[in-house]
Amino acid sequence: MSQILGSFLVFVVLLTSPVSGAYEGCFAESVRRRHFAISPGDYSPEITSTMTCRTACGAFDYKYAALAQGKFCFCGNTLPAAGPGSESLCDVDCVAEPTQKCGGLKSVSVHTASKMLAGLQLTSDAVSSPIAVSTLVTIDVSIATGMDVTYQFDYDDGAGRTSNNVTDMLSRTYSVPGEYTIQVFANDVNQTFQDSVAATAVKVEAPPGLVEVECDPVFATFEEGNGCTLTV
Ligand SMILES: *[C@@H]1O[C@H](CO)[C@@H](O)[C@H](O)[C@H]1NC(C)=O
Ligand SMILES: *[C@@H]1O[C@H](CO)[C@@H](O)[C@H](O)[C@H]1NC(C)=O
Repeated sequence: MSQILGSFLVFVVLLTSPVSGAYEGCFAESVRRRHFAISPGDYSPEITSTMTCRTACGAFDYKYAALAQGKFCFCGNTLPAAGPGSESLCDVDCVAEPTQKCGGLKSVSVHTASKMLAGLQLTSDAVSSPIAVSTLVTIDVSIATGMDVTYQFDYDDGAGRTSNNVTDMLSRTYSVPGEYTIQVFANDVNQTFQDSVAATAVKVEAPPGLVEVECDPVFATFEEGNGCTLTV
C-alpha cells in the first residue's frame, strides 16, 4: 500500500514539476518597473510556452526567460535580488501549454534561456579513404548554435551510446576490419531538446599481407575476442 502511495506521489511530482533542470523560480515582479523588461522582439503570446520563451531569449543571448500572465515573454540577464517567492503566486497556466505555469498577475516564472541546436556536423580523418586497423581515427564535431552543448557518441563498436562529453570522445581505433557508422547526439546539458543527430562512416581495412590473424584452432571463423589475435 505504501509502495503504491509512494509511486503515486512520484507521479504527481513529475506531472507538476517545472520544465527540467532550468527552472529558477517564481519571482515577484513590479508591473511599473519591471525587472524583466526586455521583450524578445516579435512573438505571438497565444503560442508562447516556456520553451518558445526560453529559446526566444536565448537567441538574443539573454540568460533568463520570464513568463508573465500566462503568455507574455520577457528576457533578462540577472535574477531579482530578493530571490524567488512562493510558487503559489505563479498560478496562471501557460495559454499554449496548460500543464505549465507561466507566472501570475504580479509574478513571473523564470527559466534559464536556451539556444536551439542547429548546424551539427560530424566528420573524421577517415572519411576520404579507408583507414588501416588499429590506426587512430580523429573525429571532428561542431555545432553552429547551441548553449552548453554536450555530445554523446555511438562508435558502432557494440558498446552503445556514451554518456555526456566523455574524455577521448574525439578519437577511436578499430581493431577489426569493417565499415562503421559513427553517430553523435547533441543536446544541452539538461537534455532540453530532442537530440540533434549526425553521422559519419569509417571504413577500416586490413592491408593484405600486413595483418596476421592467429586463431585458436577450435574457432573456425575469425572474430576478435573469439580466441583470435591480430598483429599488424
Ligand atoms: C541546466 O540546469 C542547471 C540547474 O538547474 C542550470 O543552472 C543551467 O543553467 C541549465 N542550463 C541550461 C542550458 O538550461
Ligand atoms: C562538451 O564538449 C564540447 C567539445 O569539446 C565542448 O565544446 C563543450 O563546451 C562541452 N560541454 C560542456 C557542457 O562542457
